[in-house]
Amino acid sequence: MIALENHVAVVTGAGQGIGRGIALGLAAKRVRLFLVGRNSTTLHEVAELARASSPLVLVHATDLVADGAMTGIVENLSKQLGGLDVLIHCAGAYSSGDLQTASVEEFDRLYRTNVRVPYLLTQSLLPMLKKRKGQIVFINSSQGLHARARVGQFAATQHALKAIADSLRDEANSDGVRVFSVYPGRTATPRMEAIYRLEGKEYKPELLLQAEDVAEVVINALMMPLTAEVTNITIRPLMKSY
Ligand SMILES: NC(=O)c1ccc[n+]([C@@H]2O[C@H](COP(=O)([O-])OP(=O)(O)OC[C@H]3O[C@@H](n4cnc5c(N)ncnc54)[C@H](OP(=O)(O)O)[C@@H]3O)[C@@H](O)[C@H]2O)c1
Repeated sequence: MIALENHVAVVTGAGQGIGRGIALGLAAKRVRLFLVGRNSTTLHEVAELARASSPLVLVHATDLVADGAMTGIVENLSKQLGGLDVLIHCAGAYSSGDLQTASVEEFDRLYRTNVRVPYLLTQSLLPMLKKRKGQIVFINSSQGLHARARVGQFAATQHALKAIADSLRDEANSDGVRVFSVYPGRTATPRMEAIYRLEGKEYKPELLLQAEDVAEVVINALMMPLTAEVTNITIRPLMKSY
């Protein structure tokens, strides 16, 4: 296994949920972190916890959808950390609804956040990642493999994200860059709590996947020897009926 100590990682959506779990997991491996999200307060809370083990944690609060967001990240990252080893795409938006009634404005919002943002951020950071033979992780969803009823818009964005990751892998491997997608099932996060509320079901987070479970498989895949590449990981809660 390779050591991640002192590697530099960008984690988007690091202020809560799965992104928070991955950020703290990487901090425990003494990775230097560049945490991205909109909510400065939650990002700083995660940064504070991460500093207990990581040698350096920076916070970059921005709306990734906004014009100029990518330029700001590249400039800040280059100036403060000078390079990049790991890019984790975890920021994302969700909504549900029947195809007949779901609004096209909502579809556009999901596209911008879940497809256009990771595409542009990867494009912006790829030169830095190639220099260090880095790694790119797309936190996708089980809906990115099998679309279910009432989540067509979200699932379409996740299928698009899978295509971006698969195509990029074919392009970037020759530069020594590894690319993998993770397809989690229901994970106990603020988003999932809101989904259970919408579904009118009791939320029992202890029966779901934990953000730390997803972080564990991500970090293990990142640490694989450089002779190997993990390409796709599916992970789901043991309790399927819940
Ligand atoms: N929870 C699950 O069951 C589950 C299952 C499969 C896949 N996933 C995927 O895992 C990822 C994280 O899920 P989660 O449940 O942890 O989600 P979450 O609780 O909704 O958190 C989403 C994160 O994305 C950030 N974000 C959203 N829009 C952004 C924007 N425009 N600019 C910057 N940051 C933005 C949020 O930042 P702020 O809070 O700072 O706004 C937040 O930290 C998502 O991509 C999701 O599709 C989740």
